Amino acid sequence: MSAGSFPKDFLWGAATAAYQIEGSPLADGAGPSIWQRYTHDGRMMVAQGDTGDIAADHYRRWESDVALMRDLGLQAYRFSTAWGRIQPEGRGPVNAAGIDFYSRLVDRLLENGIAPMLTLFHWDLPVALDDRGGWLNPDSADWFADYASILYRALGDRVAHWVTLNEPWVVADGGYLNGTVAPGHRNVFEAPIAAHNLMRAHGKAVQAYRAIGDGEIGLVVNIEPKYPASDSPADLAATARADAQMNRHYIEPALTGAYPPELADVYGEAWPEWPADDLQLIHQPIDFIGINYYTRAVVRDDPQSFPTRSAVVPQAGATYTETGWEVAPDAFRDMLIAMARRYPGMPIYVTENGAAFADPAVAGPDGVQDGQRCEYLRSHIAAVGEAIAAGVDIRGYMAWSLLDNLEWSLGYAKRFGIVHVDYATQRRTPKDSAALYSRIIANNGVIDA
Ligand code: BGC
Repeated sequence: MSAGSFPKDFLWGAATAAYQIEGSPLADGAGPSIWQRYTHDGRMMVAQGDTGDIAADHYRRWESDVALMRDLGLQAYRFSTAWGRIQPEGRGPVNAAGIDFYSRLVDRLLENGIAPMLTLFHWDLPVALDDRGGWLNPDSADWFADYASILYRALGDRVAHWVTLNEPWVVADGGYLNGTVAPGHRNVFEAPIAAHNLMRAHGKAVQAYRAIGDGEIGLVVNIEPKYPASDSPADLAATARADAQMNRHYIEPALTGAYPPELADVYGEAWPEWPADDLQLIHQPIDFIGINYYTRAVVRDDPQSFPTRSAVVPQAGATYTETGWEVAPDAFRDMLIAMARRYPGMPIYVTENGAAFADPAVAGPDGVQDGQRCEYLRSHIAAVGEAIAAGVDIRGYMAWSLLDNLEWSLGYAKRFGIVHVDYATQRRTPKDSAALYSRIIANNGVIDA
């Protein structure tokens, strides 16, 4: 179906994030992150009490991991840098050993023909900054731009694709509203402020890049398209609130300079008046938008549910992943087409897409037969092909994830990798989905059986 629709220079890759794979969180002078604290504070906020202390041990196995990427035929690798490795205190002194780690990684990727896409923030804020209020402190935007500039200067001659933030919604909603991810606050007044400062940080980091770098820079958002459960005005309004809170809260100010009006209704007295200058800062010209897509949601009105007064309606007959997410490739295609209509001229990368399905803890003699993940990849890559055929400017696709890893509060039990990790031995085994993905890459998007 998607045959022939992918442009010749389309970038096929895989994505990871520092805290989820690296391990060795305090090695070589690194400062601790809020994930280090969150996983060690005794509250058992992560399933099974899992921590990122070892993770997939990528910090020590990066060389063989790059060889693995080469063997899979990856053309791009999206990874994140741990802020605390670069600046142990989050501000001020630079830790040369931290920069060296990522510099060596970038060199090795390039030697293997793999384009690095570097995410500056994938949720691991240094503890020293959290102690100053973290994203609630308006200075956080300057801290972030300073940290970003250190990396632009150190790696900008070799890294052409930059991402400011990964999924600010998760940080504001999980980190400050529901407490399900670090730093684990539950405060409705904090969430809009954290979200706003994250977006200001994005704006300042883009501004700083224009003064230093000459590649491309963008923002990565998670988009979960919301569908009304019925045509009732109550369900339609609930759907608009859910969409504003999760999706439009971030992409809209970045691309249009305004917050969705529904947010005042969602947050009520916790929604402040924002200075016009801030919105201008957030609305920096960017080179692409990165979209992470996993699922859609069918939404109904639910007055009891805070703060969006909406609930997700389970779909009879649908397939669900291990994280309870509906498999919905058509919604992916339709969302990409809708994005292109809403924000014309904005190039798109699919910066994450993938699924957790139950894989064994140890790979068998025939590897890991992950047929459901294969089907997920096939149908979602076909959806990208259909969106391109419909005229959407999509420049690349990054599978989530290269490796099984720490799935945040769900720990190691949920596996998203196309490569299996045996956590007892750190042995890597490419799953059937990795073999399928290699063939798709080799055929530039043509999907075999
Ligand atoms: C994040 C990843 C995460 C994945 C699956 C995205 O929200 O960027 O870090 O592992 O989805 O939940």
